[in-house]
Amino acid sequence: MALKDGGIVILDYGSQTAQLIARRVRELGVFAALIPYSATLEQAQAAAPQFRGIILSGGPASVYEPDAPDLPDWVLDSGVPVLGICYGMQLLTQRLGGRVAGAAQREYGMATISVREAGGLFDGLERAQTVWMSHGDRIERPPEGFVALAATDNAPYAAMADLRRRLWGVQFHPEVQHTAHGQAMLRNFVVGVCGASTDWTPENFIEATIAAIRAQVGTGRVLLGMSGGVDSSVAGELIHRAVGEQLVPVFVNHGMLRQGEAEQVIALGQRLGWKNLVAVDATEEFLEALAGVTEPEEKRQIIGRTFAAVFEREAARVGPLDWLAQGTIYPDVIESAGTGRPGARRIKSHHNVGGLPERLRDRLVEPLRDLFKDEVRQVGARLGIPDEIIWRQPFPGPGLGVRCVGEVTWERLEILRAADHIFLSELAAAGLLREGTAQAFAVLLPVRSVGVMGDNRTYDEVIVLRAVTTSDFMTADWARLDPDLLARVSNRIVNEVKGVNRVLYDITSKPPATIEWE
Ligand code: XMP
Repeated sequence: MALKDGGIVILDYGSQTAQLIARRVRELGVFAALIPYSATLEQAQAAAPQFRGIILSGGPASVYEPDAPDLPDWVLDSGVPVLGICYGMQLLTQRLGGRVAGAAQREYGMATISVREAGGLFDGLERAQTVWMSHGDRIERPPEGFVALAATDNAPYAAMADLRRRLWGVQFHPEVQHTAHGQAMLRNFVVGVCGASTDWTPENFIEATIAAIRAQVGTGRVLLGMSGGVDSSVAGELIHRAVGEQLVPVFVNHGMLRQGEAEQVIALGQRLGWKNLVAVDATEEFLEALAGVTEPEEKRQIIGRTFAAVFEREAARVGPLDWLAQGTIYPDVIESAGTGRPGARRIKSHHNVGGLPERLRDRLVEPLRDLFKDEVRQVGARLGIPDEIIWRQPFPGPGLGVRCVGEVTWERLEILRAADHIFLSELAAAGLLREGTAQAFAVLLPVRSVGVMGDNRTYDEVIVLRAVTTSDFMTADWARLDPDLLARVSNRIVNEVKGVNRVLYDITSKPPATIEWE
């Protein structure tokens, strides 16, 4: 049986937590594919071969609105168990002849349900359960054949089922942490009710992926753009384990990396035994191209263009090459399918492979296409990728180039690098790089201010510290860092970094600001 067989299909009705349902199911060792609600049976089968169950996600619509997203016929025809969550439950109700209406009282937040029917979804759980509700509509009358399994004061059908047809519904969200035993409920459904296969483990993934890469690339050589981030490192090591020296990783140092980063990438390659790692120091080429440029978009374009030129030149030098490896991960795949471009292959812009040989664009090796970020990390840990890389925060392709506001010169980059390193090491020492901040960095401003050091007047540039919390990087809040930590960082920067006499902390959320300064 192939690794992805016997899993769960999740139909996406637009809930913020749809991806989370997939991640939770996968944490149970069960493969789950998230597909648009409009997908066909063939698409569902392609995404999750021989699926054993279907979950309908929540969503923002009301089932009785004119253009509300509907339930494809194949869902009920497929004969496998179905679990509707929130909107999904209301959709089942409406389709099967029950009644859904706006509740007199909307329910948002924690609620306690009383379980009337133990077993099934609630197998092994106590009668009173804390759950997370978020709904305005509720089930007024369930369809025929359904019984109430649990209720709150405000929702007589907080959970219900038609046990004969194996159709289940919950008004609350089992996938969120606030539902205390939500994971147990999901296990009861996917393993207990559906009998889904629990083979989706990092070990099995590694074994199956290595075999798949071998079958795909044959004796061809595989080009990999190495950024030093977790995705390209894990993808690289999977390919290396599969085809050894057929892997050609190319790492371009554009001179705008953080302190120690270039050395770290090279050390990783050596540690993993990547014999063909090509490491190019193109710092001068980039700085020459950027000389005198201060406009952010222009900087980005120059960096992108130069990167493409250097990368292509180096690839040509080691050629001929047959395949291009990319660190595309599952959220990218979901995103491109969800925007009406099913199967569209988007090249991740931050992988900076803009200037690749045309003929490699359709010869992609994407070993992480099925993984969420947390799964990439688990696989990476099993492959012996060091923690600093596995837990590295996202770093933009143009690197410090977009954090050096104003002109990018070697001297200014060195000031920024030193300040950034102090900030990041203090955050690491406080345990705030893995949790507590999603992204943290320093920015150098082309603004001088007056200061006094000893008996001397100084007139130096300004460092801004930026630290944000976010899960999707689309919106972000500034991290409420401990003032003592900020004081320590500020003190160290002005004392240890020549050329800086003032440190600011950025307290702007996104929107209206962006995370980066340029
Ligand atoms: P903003 O600044 O738009 O950033 O709030 C959101 C996330 O995207 C990263 N970012 C980039 N990544 N190339 C990249 O690869 C870029 O040009 C770029 N600009 C922003 C940023 O670091 C943050 O994680």
